[in-house]
Parts: sequence; C-alpha cells; structure tokens
Amino acid sequence: MSTLSAKIFIDTHRTIADISPLLFGGFVEHMGRCVYEGIYDPDSPLSDSNGLRTDVMDALREQSYTVMRYPGGNFLSGYNWLDGVGPKADRPRRRELAWQSIETNQFGTNEFIDFCRAINTAPMLGVNMGTGTIESAGNLVEYCNAPTGTYWADLRASHGYRDPHGVEYWCVGNEMDGPWQIGHLEAEAYGLKALEAAKMMKWQDPSIKTVLCGSSNDRMPTYPEWDRTALEIAWEKVDYHSIHYYAQNHENDTASYLALPIDLENYVDTVAATLRYAKAKRRSQHDVYLSWDEWQVWYKDRSGRGNWSEAPHLSEEIYNLEDALLVAQWLNVFLRKSDVLKVACVAQVVNIISWLHTRKDGLLKQVSFYPFQLMSNLAKGKALDLLVQSPRHETARYGDVHHLDVSASYDEASGSQALFVVNRSQTDAVQTELVWQGGAPAQVTETWQLSGTDPKAANSWEQPNLLTAKKVVNPSIQDGKIALSLPPLSFTAISLA
Ligand code: AHR
Repeated sequence: MSTLSAKIFIDTHRTIADISPLLFGGFVEHMGRCVYEGIYDPDSPLSDSNGLRTDVMDALREQSYTVMRYPGGNFLSGYNWLDGVGPKADRPRRRELAWQSIETNQFGTNEFIDFCRAINTAPMLGVNMGTGTIESAGNLVEYCNAPTGTYWADLRASHGYRDPHGVEYWCVGNEMDGPWQIGHLEAEAYGLKALEAAKMMKWQDPSIKTVLCGSSNDRMPTYPEWDRTALEIAWEKVDYHSIHYYAQNHENDTASYLALPIDLENYVDTVAATLRYAKAKRRSQHDVYLSWDEWQVWYKDRSGRGNWSEAPHLSEEIYNLEDALLVAQWLNVFLRKSDVLKVACVAQVVNIISWLHTRKDGLLKQVSFYPFQLMSNLAKGKALDLLVQSPRHETARYGDVHHLDVSASYDEASGSQALFVVNRSQTDAVQTELVWQGGAPAQVTETWQLSGTDPKAANSWEQPNLLTAKKVVNPSIQDGKIALSLPPLSFTAISLA
C-alpha cells in the first residue's frame, strides 16, 4: 500500500443550493418481505400492538428518513387502493400480478400513514396509472386529504381516521415507460393521462405536490425522449419528475464500479437539461425538480416471482463494502446536484433490495446502512462547491478517475459543517489536507470512518458487526487546516462547528 496526498479547498461562500431534506427518503413496496415480515409482522415478538416491527422502526429512525414512498413500484400499477382500507376481515386476498405473489391487503393506506407517523416521516403516495383511472386517483386524494362531509372523506372517517392525513407528495404512476409495467403507456399517452390525473388530484387538494414518471433508467431505448414528451405535456401540473436507477457490478470490476457516480451525474445532468428545455418550450414560469425516487444497488439477486405465495423471499440482496462505498458516493452526488435534485428514495427500506434484513426475532444491518445513516443526520443547510485536488487511478470503463469523491454541507444558522469523503482507491491511502478559504471552523465535533481491505466483505447474521462506521479520534484544526488520513476503500464523515 502506498500513501499519496490530496487537498480539499472549502469556502462556505461557494454554495450550490439548499440541501432538500427530502433527499433522505425511503421506499416501501408491497413486494417480497418489505411490508409483510418487514415493517408489519403481527406474529413477531418484536412487533407492537399495531403489528409494526419496533426494531425495524428504531433502525429507520436512526436513519432519519424524511419521506417514504408507497405502495409501489410495479405493484402500484395493478393496485386498487380500496382493497387496503376498511375492516381487515373484509379485505380481499388477491393474486398480485407484478410480483406473482398473494396480497392479503392486511396492510394498506391507513396502516402506512400510522407507520409514517410512528417514525416521523412524510408519506409519499402513488396513484395507479396502469389499471387505475384518473377518477380513482382523485378519489384517493379526497379520501386522504379532504375534511369530512363528502363521500370519500367520510369513508376515511368511518375507517377510524376522522382527521385528514394531509399527504403532500403524490407519484402519478410508476415507471410507465417500462414494457414490464402493468398498463404500460407510450410517452404521449402517459403524459396526457398524468396531466388529467394531476388536474383532478390538485383540484381535490391544491396544496399537494405531484411527481411525473420519468425514464426507468438511462439505458431505456426511449430515454430521454420519454422524459421530454411527458414533461412537455404535463409540465404545469407536476412539481417533480422522477428518475430511477439500480447499480450493477456484473463484470466484477471494482474500480469501474466505484467510478459509477460519473454515470449517475451524467444521468442527472441530461434529465436536468430536459427539464430546462421543456420549461423553455412551454414558455413557463413554473419549475419542476427531480425526484430520484428509486435508487439502490441491485444485481446479485434479481428474483421477482413469488410463485403465488405470501411475503416470498425476493431480491434479498447481500451488500458488501464496495456497495457501501458506492452508496456513500451516490449520496455525495445528491449533494452535488442539490440545485435540481430535491427528493430521493432508497429502494427499498427493509428486506427487498435493502440494507436491513429481518428474521422473526432479529434484524441485520448490512454495511451500506451506515453511509446513509451518517449523511442523513449530518448533511444540513447548503451543499458546498469544493475544489478537490486528488490523485488518480485508471479504470476500464471511465479511464482516469480521482481517488477521492467528496461532498460537503454548511448550515449557516448553526454554523455547522460536514464533509463526506470516499477514497475509492483499492491500494492507496490518501493523506488529505482540508483547507478553509475564509474562516475555518473552531472545532471538529465528530469523525466517523468505515473501511476495510476486502471490497467483497459483508456483514452476516453470524458476523453482524464485521463492517460498521466507527467513531475515530477527531483530527485537530491547525492554521485553518486539518490533516485527514484516508485508508484505501474508505468512507469518512466529519462534522465541524
Ligand atoms: O424496487 C423494485 C422495482 O424496481 C419497483 O417495483 C419498480 O418500480 C422498479 O423497476
């Protein structure tokens, strides 16, 4: 192992944008064991009287989720929300087509709202644009948000919820560009349906924010034309435009995999440019921002067929150190793109494609749990535009890339700062100098590090704490500078005041 040097120049006047708190969101889908045996499991000794898993909720609270998307996902496009409300004994068992599973409907909209309240997160509901109608979309907004006195709001009250839920964020469908989607539509047809649905939804409650479906990923043959078409049609009635992305390392090329943020940033830049184009074409004063409402590493276990069973074990992905370092960099991208990216939801929060796995009697935190936990709690205020001088290494897919991937935040009100650095070199430690241009902070409040020598190392039920973020000794500030030692394959989070 060799040691190289780097410098990071920090100037709190050079800001990118406010960091939207909604960048630290999650996603709960009726898929596999996310809902049943994940957040809701009346048979577990670890559940409360509502059947909600207390250990899962504690872990989600540790991660400080700000928003939670529900109920899908591909599930959404075949879902009749009426199946999931009212007395549980009357709710139908259904064959669920997206994941070929049995849906018992014992958990639905109201239970989800209770769950969100319990973990102090804002609900983000989806309306079905596959088999669903614009009428059913409007009805769900009335059911959730209207005061009592009319049919759907009174139905909610009769189900035990007299006060409106006040759901602010609404996805108008899910991945409607994908041929795999139940009721998939071409871009123009979707744009027109989404426009009419969003109109009805906003007439029900003008305060809501709506999310248009964008491309499911940047490899879709219809990308980015889908985005342009749908945006131009629905522009004035939507507030966010969604993008989705699942990262893969099928080639088992760690260096290229860890440089993937290059593609992630290009993806954001292209869709951001499409937003600007659509706004100009519409001669609009209205702004639409990005909602990255599905993101995660997903390639080792792509199982998606439940063989008509309840809560099947689907896509219970095992995460290793390289995955955690990618997650940390993904969050860095969120901060660096905070001018256009305002919502993000990791897919998903437990069991399915998730860093949390449950058993009836326990919970496993996989290694990628920790970067999210640290960044969601420490990144506050505005994102900073940094100057990074870093050593470089060669990758097969991207050529020459920086060893270091960095983001930072500055909260003017409290005077606190935070810096997040990934050293993605597999061989080189990097002695890094943090240099403040203007006033340096007075003290380091905490420093955390996650590192290892084997990119494939992972936590397991047998070794649950093999890889965790550890509090390390705070470096001292001298002459407005800090010297940080960054091991290869590491993530460091440092907060200052
Ligand atoms: O999160 C799993 C699935 O991935 C979602 O249902 C779908 O939207 C995406 O393709």
